[in-house]
Amino acid sequence: MTEQSPALDNLLNESRTFPPSDEFAARANATADLYAEADADREAFWAKQAERLHWETKWTQVLDWSDAPFAKWFAGGKLNVAYNCVDRHVDDGHGDQVAIHWVGEPGDTRDLTYADLKREVSKAANALASLGLVAGDRVAIQLQMVPEAIVAMLACARLGLTHSVVFGGFSPTALRSRVDDAQARVVITSDGQFRRGKAAPMKANVDEALEGAESVEKVIVVRRTETEVPWTEGRDLWWHELVDSQSEEHTPEAFDAEHPLYILYTSGTTGKPKGILHTSGGYLTQAAYTHHTVFDHKPGEDVYWCTADIGWVTGHTYIVYGPLANRVTQVVYEGTPNTPHEGRHWEIIQQYKVSIYYTAPTLIRTFMKWGKEIPEKYDLSSLRVLGSVGEPINPEAWIWYRENIGAGKAPIVDTWWQTETGSIMISPLPGVTAAKPGSAQRALPGISAKVVDDQATEVGRGGGGYLVLDQPWPSMLRGIWGDNDRYRETYWSRFADQGFYFAGDGAKYDDDGDIWLLGRVDDVMNVSGHRISTTEVESALVSHPTVAEAAVVGATDPTTGQGIVAFVILRGNVAQDEAKGEEAITALRNHVAKEIGPIAKPRQIMVVPELPKTRSGKIMRRLLRDVAENRQVGDVTTLADSSVMDLISSGLNSGK
Ligand code: WTA
Repeated sequence: MTEQSPALDNLLNESRTFPPSDEFAARANATADLYAEADADREAFWAKQAERLHWETKWTQVLDWSDAPFAKWFAGGKLNVAYNCVDRHVDDGHGDQVAIHWVGEPGDTRDLTYADLKREVSKAANALASLGLVAGDRVAIQLQMVPEAIVAMLACARLGLTHSVVFGGFSPTALRSRVDDAQARVVITSDGQFRRGKAAPMKANVDEALEGAESVEKVIVVRRTETEVPWTEGRDLWWHELVDSQSEEHTPEAFDAEHPLYILYTSGTTGKPKGILHTSGGYLTQAAYTHHTVFDHKPGEDVYWCTADIGWVTGHTYIVYGPLANRVTQVVYEGTPNTPHEGRHWEIIQQYKVSIYYTAPTLIRTFMKWGKEIPEKYDLSSLRVLGSVGEPINPEAWIWYRENIGAGKAPIVDTWWQTETGSIMISPLPGVTAAKPGSAQRALPGISAKVVDDQATEVGRGGGGYLVLDQPWPSMLRGIWGDNDRYRETYWSRFADQGFYFAGDGAKYDDDGDIWLLGRVDDVMNVSGHRISTTEVESALVSHPTVAEAAVVGATDPTTGQGIVAFVILRGNVAQDEAKGEEAITALRNHVAKEIGPIAKPRQIMVVPELPKTRSGKIMRRLLRDVAENRQVGDVTTLADSSVMDLISSGLNSGK
């Protein structure tokens, strides 16, 4: 069913396995019997996992699925998420344990203990409350990786405010649509951020985004780069002026297990980003459980580092909520991996003796490109578990990661999940699973996933199809903000009769029944682990005055997984003038960056005279992908005009 690239064929021929060492298995958090325990009574299993948390009021029902697909987990229970991530560790006598080793890009550092974190979060909560914010209000956060980003999220959680973190690289337009959709009352940002040694403005972009934004009453600005910023009197407040003077005491209130914790926007198959809604008790339960079992995390012993940005779900679940609930000591790094040199990550691992490292395949492939000589210069012997997330990891990168970063012995956990699933769903368990390079392998204990065909019938071993989740799980999304119909339609309509959640990914079972993820089957691209929809980029392109029509595909890219390739038909007057055409392409790439953000900039834009369409007018992206990946163009019989592909190919070959 899914169209396979040569890289995927390679992946599926992989047959090596790497069983855990006896030494690792003997101390592992996960044990093989968890699978059977969860299968015997799934709800009892999750109730046991929920005991990891402090509940102010215990739940009366583990799962209420009576209003499916809207789940209620731990119904009737009450808890405070921030109390669970911060205060209780102080109450348990761990106030002096470092929670965050923060490393700034320019080399400045800051350590925050749990006692420090409690103080900062309490002050920030008092500050937000002083602005009149009450539980249920929304707060947008656009901040780079500074401690205040985490403090701000936890302060919201403490007050029952719903945060919406917007990735720092998103454009003013993208920020604005998210602020409007969530009707955020407050926006938290910084003056600027350090990127590759330079200070880039943040506040100025936020100001541009918020022009005329009616819901926003206050903008709180963290001082970081000391860049001069535009200022709106009466609306703008400095974080340090507002927060520093607040009381360090704040009593957390317990909220319902289903209280909205955050909204996080992600690309769907249409242009409008979806506000994925996550709630409190079930989310935190699965975040903590997976962080404990999948990373084998041992509080007080391990030093953990997840390299994601808090603007993505990985940062939410595996920097903020799961790890802090488990009393982690973690590294948080502000900058890029090659500033000021390509060994920056290894230098940090050596310095802080990082033992668990969680990153993305695109970065691993970049490290491969830079050469193994770079990590070889550092002492990485503290590393004992390695993780991967965001896209399928090719076996070459997996082996390189294990050999060069994990000293040929650290288990690698290839974790499959989504913004929508909230936490890891499919992954090997370190100490239990004999790992296979390139396969996420098996649903975690408590989770059920299947590969099915068009008719929703599970495929057999060796068969491929669609990945579905056939049982509800605690950290599942509770909906799309303000759009219940879109929620049902997007995730639950494809296999409505069976009640399966359709993930949008293609997958395959190998002969052992292990799952191999094969990438998206919808119009969502995966560029460096970031989800971008083809429609979103197409709308950005056609919003430019020179473009008549546009079609976008994700083409296989050796480093970023996929690269964005756009085919555009320019408007008559521009198309006739070749020099103008060149200029137009540069302008178009910049236009997309401005509309969505630099991550959505097409790798390549090809000007074409026509686009291949079916008789019903649907663009055949499959054929364009063939062109973008330099392959022989496939079957054209369903095209309305079968000569179109010749026209496209000949135009490109002659360099036009
Ligand atoms: C892809 C990121 C293969 C997949 C946590 C999914 C993966 C999308 C893996 C979600 C993996 C994520 N192997 N593919 N280990 N992890 N994906 O919402 O296509 O940014 O649907 O969440 O990334 O991306 P999202």
